[in-house]
Amino acid sequence: MRNKIFVTRIIPEAGLKLLREQFDVDVWQDSLPPDREAMLTRAKGAIGLLTLLSDKIDGEIMDAAGPKLRGIANYAVGFNNIDVAAASQRGIDVGNTPDVLTDATADIAVGLVLAAARHFQSSILQVRALQWKTWEPMGLLGYDLNGKTLGIVGMGRIGAAVARKLVGGWGMKVVYTSRSSKPEIDQEFNAGRVSMDELLSQSDVVSLHTDLNEQTKHMMSDREFAMMKPNAILVNTARGGVIDQAALYRALKSKSIFAAGLDVTDPEPLPDESPLRELENCTILPHIGSATFEAREQMSLMAAQNLIAASVGQPLPFPV
Ligand code: DGY
Repeated sequence: MRNKIFVTRIIPEAGLKLLREQFDVDVWQDSLPPDREAMLTRAKGAIGLLTLLSDKIDGEIMDAAGPKLRGIANYAVGFNNIDVAAASQRGIDVGNTPDVLTDATADIAVGLVLAAARHFQSSILQVRALQWKTWEPMGLLGYDLNGKTLGIVGMGRIGAAVARKLVGGWGMKVVYTSRSSKPEIDQEFNAGRVSMDELLSQSDVVSLHTDLNEQTKHMMSDREFAMMKPNAILVNTARGGVIDQAALYRALKSKSIFAAGLDVTDPEPLPDESPLRELENCTILPHIGSATFEAREQMSLMAAQNLIAASVGQPLPFPV
């Protein structure tokens, strides 16, 4: 009898095809995620789970899957949705999909910087609402990016790709935070590692690229917004929980910072009643950082390769 893999959403065929060669592949067909009950039931007996960032995978799900479970392949680079400690206690390997979505996500960060700096959202809404009456000498004024300072919070793969694009395209100067020193980054961007407070007070654009964990949860709150420049733009393509959204609302509403561009929120989707939706200086995308055909196809292959390796007890090619 073939072993079972539970895949929590329809993903590109490349990875599913690879899995079907060896396993019984049960793919959740709904466009919304399985609820907790469905997850507990469908995981039962699986040797591997292919999960999304919207699936909370904890010890209870692992125990419901049962003793056959060998691997969990997250279809994302971030894996804050998985209790990795619970997995390792149970001898279950966890993998992710790094690198292949770096440029796709960095492109969205750059797009949000431009959208925020130049009022894309208000401009589009104005045209749609038939409010475009004339060429405005003083309306919808934004900021140039050339020569301004870019602060990368968390200089990893995606942060470096964002810096590369904004330095190459707009000659921005780079400062960054990172857990360790990065001589190659200092050299490439003629940049310097700084403290978070220095970064916030120096940067015209702040782009967030940290993991979400106990240390980074709400790392952007009232105190941090108060340190930013009044012309500053905040972009988040990492995880919504890194920002205290009530504090962000206050900063945007009072114009203590200029604008924000968010590809991620907390929770996702953003609740209907969230006041952030109403702000003209807050552009919000529905978490589309990795949403290119190319990235998603590679992600599906990597997730499948992780589960194939886990099923035979081999080291995962892309472990977390
Ligand atoms: C990830 O893979 O973690 C990204 O958030 C996808 O956009």
